[in-house]
Amino acid sequence: MKKNKSRNVILVGAQWGDEGKGKIIDLLARKSDYIVRYQGGNNAGHTVCFDDQKIVLHLIPSGILHPKKICVLGNGVVIDLEAFFKEINTLAKRGVSVKGRLFVSDRAHLIFPFHRLMDQLREDHKGSEKIGTTKKGIGPCYADKANRLGIRLVDLMNPRVFRERLRLLLTEKNLMLKKIFNHAPFSFERIHGTYAAYRKRIAPFIQDTSLLLENASRKGKRILFEGAQGTLLDVDYGTYPFVTSSNASAGGAIVGTGIGPSRIDEAIGVVKAYTTRVGEGPFPTQFPPDLMAHIRERGEEYGATTGRPRRCGWFDALVARHSVLVNGLSKVIVMKLDVLDQLKKIKICTAYRFRSKRYNRFPSDIEVLEKAEPIYEEHPGWLVSTKSARQWNDLPMNARRYIKRLEALLQVPISIVSVGSERLETIYIDASYI
Ligand code: GDP
Ligand code: IMO
Ligand code: MG
Repeated sequence: MKKNKSRNVILVGAQWGDEGKGKIIDLLARKSDYIVRYQGGNNAGHTVCFDDQKIVLHLIPSGILHPKKICVLGNGVVIDLEAFFKEINTLAKRGVSVKGRLFVSDRAHLIFPFHRLMDQLREDHKGSEKIGTTKKGIGPCYADKANRLGIRLVDLMNPRVFRERLRLLLTEKNLMLKKIFNHAPFSFERIHGTYAAYRKRIAPFIQDTSLLLENASRKGKRILFEGAQGTLLDVDYGTYPFVTSSNASAGGAIVGTGIGPSRIDEAIGVVKAYTTRVGEGPFPTQFPPDLMAHIRERGEEYGATTGRPRRCGWFDALVARHSVLVNGLSKVIVMKLDVLDQLKKIKICTAYRFRSKRYNRFPSDIEVLEKAEPIYEEHPGWLVSTKSARQWNDLPMNARRYIKRLEALLQVPISIVSVGSERLETIYIDASYI
């Protein structure tokens, strides 16, 4: 059996999010010492299923369910403290303790109630041009960070600095609320009081997490970086402007944690055997309504954070190849193969056509993406359940052919195939994971 030499691994979503990262992080966590989120916030919804239990994590890394693992929220994550404490309480009720093994970067920026409101108001203001955000305040918080108005955890911990920074930030926000949105202002004293009260509770979690990870790495510990969202939602590489506000792609793990690039051994991408998207924005391979209803039902394609129905479509090789490229993926993991079990024919998009031009690479022009006509190849389905398959050879021939075709199109090895949401419903092609 091949020994896995990779110590520090970045796991990213290689489509538009919800690929099944939660399940894979939970599996890979067994062989990791640290599990680290590097971007996004509680806009994520990562589902882990085991022993008839289902847990959805929004902010805390999915590795937290393994009792001895250390979990970290890096500086690139935006923290809603209310959501943070709520999630800790939910975990405690399930018997999961975070004491002494959950750390948050002192440089991470804070989400405030006015960020959530601004998210909502900006969406309403855009009308039919809206992004379809999760309304968790993610975009407005990152905007304040880039505007140099943001407030970090370390600022919260310094009463004088916090008072000054909050005054500056809230003065601007209240002006915007009044002048642009004709909305009532927030009370400085009320927000100040709420956040000052969080100080004592959050103190034990705060660390210089860059140093923490560097020390861990020097000691030979294994670090797993848990991407949230997906590459096509990345603010630089996604379908801009229909993206989230952070770097969900592998590069985000470097700036979002403070670990040096030379410490990273590999980047692994997670895809569904088809494609989904929640929120607005172009989606060339979207199914017609009847197929959409079938796959949404079988795949339970409803947002883990907002409950919104996800749009579903055929596997888009341009999307996945784009992710292989911008993340430097060395392996790909294919999820939810079982959802396709009842289809007679399965299509894969291998190129787009727009104004008689053929596109073999994922285009950046939003108009091309909105109007592109997918060029498909068609494969026969397998029409038997794959749910009980545990090894490659247990899969029906047509399912194996489908996976092999994806591998050929992506030009990277497919290392795991998932055939159900449970931990056991997994086929390890690459034995180094076990
Ligand atoms: P994430 O955001 O990437 O972690 O993915 P989500 O948790 O939002 O969505 C993935 C959903 O698919 C969850 O409900 C998982 O329990 C489920 N899931 C994961 N892998 C499989 C699989 O192989 N088959 C099926 N049928 N469901 C799966
Ligand atoms: P996980 O980690 C799928 C989408 C939203 C919207 C866009 C911007 O579970 O894969 P935001 O609130 O981030 O400003 O919304 O991004 N989005 C996700 N879609 N999975 C996610 O996370 C998502 N997080 C944000 O629907 O289109
Ligand atoms: Mg999700």
